[in-house]
Amino acid sequence: MKRLSGNWPDYLLDEIRARADIVEVISDYVVLSKKGRNYLGLCPFHHEKTPSFTVAPDKQMFYCFGCQTGGNVFTFLTKKENISFGEAVKFLAEKTGVNLPQVELDPQEQAKQKQLERIAQINKASKDFYHEYLLSKPEAQAARDYLARRGINHKVLEEFQLGFAPEGWSGLTSFLQARGFSLKEMADAGVVTPKEDGGGYDRFRNRIIFPIVNVRGQVIGFGGRVLDDSLPKYLNTPETPFFSKRHNLYGIDLAHKNMREKGETLVVEGYMDVIAAHQSGFDNAVASLGTALTRDQGKLILRYTQKVVLAYDSDGAGVSAAFKGAEILRALGCNVKILTVPAGKDPDEFLRSHRPEEFALLTENAPGIVPYKLAHLTRERPTANINAKVEIVNSLADDLLKTESLIERGGYIQLIAKTLGITEEVIYAELERISSKARKTRVFPDKSRLNSHTNNGLAHSEFGNPGRESDVDAALKIVSSQVLRAENLLLRLMLDEPQVIALVHENLGWDGFRDPVHSKALVLIKEMWLKGNWDPATLAAMVNDQELESFFARLALADPGVSSPLKAAGDCIKVIKNDQIKEKINKLQEQARLMQNNGDVENAMKLLQQINQLIRQPASDLPR
Ligand code: CTP
Ligand code: MN
Repeated sequence: MKRLSGNWPDYLLDEIRARADIVEVISDYVVLSKKGRNYLGLCPFHHEKTPSFTVAPDKQMFYCFGCQTGGNVFTFLTKKENISFGEAVKFLAEKTGVNLPQVELDPQEQAKQKQLERIAQINKASKDFYHEYLLSKPEAQAARDYLARRGINHKVLEEFQLGFAPEGWSGLTSFLQARGFSLKEMADAGVVTPKEDGGGYDRFRNRIIFPIVNVRGQVIGFGGRVLDDSLPKYLNTPETPFFSKRHNLYGIDLAHKNMREKGETLVVEGYMDVIAAHQSGFDNAVASLGTALTRDQGKLILRYTQKVVLAYDSDGAGVSAAFKGAEILRALGCNVKILTVPAGKDPDEFLRSHRPEEFALLTENAPGIVPYKLAHLTRERPTANINAKVEIVNSLADDLLKTESLIERGGYIQLIAKTLGITEEVIYAELERISSKARKTRVFPDKSRLNSHTNNGLAHSEFGNPGRESDVDAALKIVSSQVLRAENLLLRLMLDEPQVIALVHENLGWDGFRDPVHSKALVLIKEMWLKGNWDPATLAAMVNDQELESFFARLALADPGVSSPLKAAGDCIKVIKNDQIKEKINKLQEQARLMQNNGDVENAMKLLQQINQLIRQPASDLPR
């Protein structure tokens, strides 16, 4: 069995798990309150208003009944901190004082780890070099003047660790070489541009340097701005193993705590906008690093807040970036407002000539997606025209229907009616027409979902996770729900009661579960049990499969609701066995039919005898 981690021995993982109490670890991220044996809180992995995120200290597992995310303490950290399993192990080992022998990492992982460490060191050293240069070197006078002209004070300059990359080709290169870093490593980090002859030169020259720092405080890359109008205006670290633009946000290291505290994130476009915002007290500002906001960046924001104010430039590119970003954020479940800075300025320019209160007012009054689009659409074309009104309502319909709050939706409809000079009723009627048209095209759920996941969803739905009614109905036709439910309950009982495992071992055997995830789970239980080290709390950690891991977590936290596990298990085994016999009979009958067709009557008769025996002997003689 492979594990997610590489080669950590079981006893070490067990030791760490035992010391790092899952409730304590998760409490750093989620407010938990005790409910019976378990703890309950608002799920950090999806947006919810009533808590369905459950932590079970006795099983050392968590599971969200809302979004079906679950696992053990390591899984929690990999998801929450966006780190690998190995990193989560290391993190908790350090926290709990468990010594991890270096040799336990496989060589490939070790090499990669080493490389990342070197890149981190180079980035840190480069940041210090640039920063020192800006602060103290006479050659950086022009840069200091430039920043002063742009109104940047010393405090934010320090907070953001701004720097200056000197003119010339080798200032940083020689500095790093003297500290034992190779040109190859510098190129890997992206601070040096390699040459064909094996040499290399400073990537950033004569530029103001903006270090990009991740949530954990590691310098992952740089942006560099020219001091004049030359091009390119900004130069960034190329994509490296360490630096992926689309996963990061500029300013997140300084902003994330404030984002959580304020319950809101301010997303701007540029480095200077972030810095100006922080300087004016909007310390929940981050920038999407010059790209349109990505889903990954959205998810990063969602770790801290659900409310987002997008304050992009009001030029054409900014408007379309705001549209796209808002769409992505809403799809992730964010509550999005779009701020338009007046007179075509960007937030930095605005803040330089206005008081912070004025900007605060802009954020408070920033419209949601529908009013923003409405304003944009009516600005673009005359609305006296009846066709224009129809088109505008149509192009807002989708957004209106996606607005979950009915009060909010009602408010928008009122606004549209007033703006376009039509009645609210016709807008409602139009929405009704559009949504019923949409419904007709998707009366049945897609096949693919039924075949892969809904089978499981159905089987598990007993335990507080009901699929949508239509999915369940349709799935019922495809599989025998009773058997799946029996498989599920039986697995659940096995986790609680080793005697049930023995019962399965003796009376059912280990194959023939219908549901593929159930089968995989059964195999895992079998392997652990037969080895004689039965410990259900470690099961999820042995799994190299997201779906299965989540399944185990969900299973462990579901209340089986039976008074006698052994008796219930007996019933489950009976149902499953009968189903298996039915399957077998079907197969034999099919064979017999083929034989008869081929004139092999003698063997067909033999098969029929077997079938008769099977029919007479259902699996009802189980020990109770
Ligand atoms: N950007 C970039 N590469 C460029 C241009 C822009 O990476 N060649 C990114 C930078 O993150 C920049 C952001 O896009 O901060 C917004 O660009 P822009 O509006 O042109 O710059 P400002 O941030 O407004 O910078 P300044 O105020 O210094 O002109
Ligand atoms: Mn600007």
